[in-house]
Amino acid sequence: MAATRIDRSRKPSKTEEHPLYVVRRSSVHGYGAFATRDIKKGEVVDEYLGDRITHAQADKRYEDHDENDNHTFLFIVDKKTVIDAGIGGNDARFINHKCDPNCESEIKKSRVFIVATKKIAKGIEIGYDYQIGREKDDPDNVDEVYACRCGSPKCRGTMLWPPKRPSPKKRRKKAARKTKTRARKKK
Ligand SMILES: C[S@@+](CC[C@H](N)C(=O)[O-])C[C@H]1O[C@@H](n2cnc3c(N)ncnc32)[C@H](O)[C@@H]1O
Ligand SMILES: [Zn+2]
Repeated sequence: MAATRIDRSRKPSKTEEHPLYVVRRSSVHGYGAFATRDIKKGEVVDEYLGDRITHAQADKRYEDHDENDNHTFLFIVDKKTVIDAGIGGNDARFINHKCDPNCESEIKKSRVFIVATKKIAKGIEIGYDYQIGREKDDPDNVDEVYACRCGSPKCRGTMLWPPKRPSPKKRRKKAARKTKTRARKKK
């Protein structure tokens, strides 16, 4: 059995083949996924794969994560499970966030699929709304750190959800999330 690979180089695989997209440099951020043919609404673009771990394991793994680095390959599946595509992940991890998305993530039997929500023309960048969760102890500059660069006229300016930071009073009341490490959620 091959050893689990920690792909911190953030470079796409040279051998992975996808029927629906190619990974190349994106004006949004780093690498992105681009349709290699017209994709129909409802088509599954890919499955989001990686190391399946608990929230506590994710927190431990990234406890030294720099607060000012917004990069994450984590995806929250449910209360128990987080997928870390930084370890053994496939190229679906290069699908960027879009505020006016053409895809969404669907969770079926604890597996995550990226599915087209509209027709995507060949050459268009594929993206879904990450809805990265806010936390009650977010630093004041959290919206700068998680600023969105999707470039859409509908851009809400942040990859975080909800889009506006709750008032300090509401933040105090908000229950603690399970994973302290930032991760995107189903959308
Ligand atoms: C799973 S990676 C997506 C692939 C990424 N472009 C790369 O080359 O590694 C997720 C990270 O990409 C960046 N990213 C994705 N979409 C973005 C956007 N719309 N605006 C700013 N950064 C984005 C953030 O750093 C985010 O945590
Ligand atoms: Zn945006």
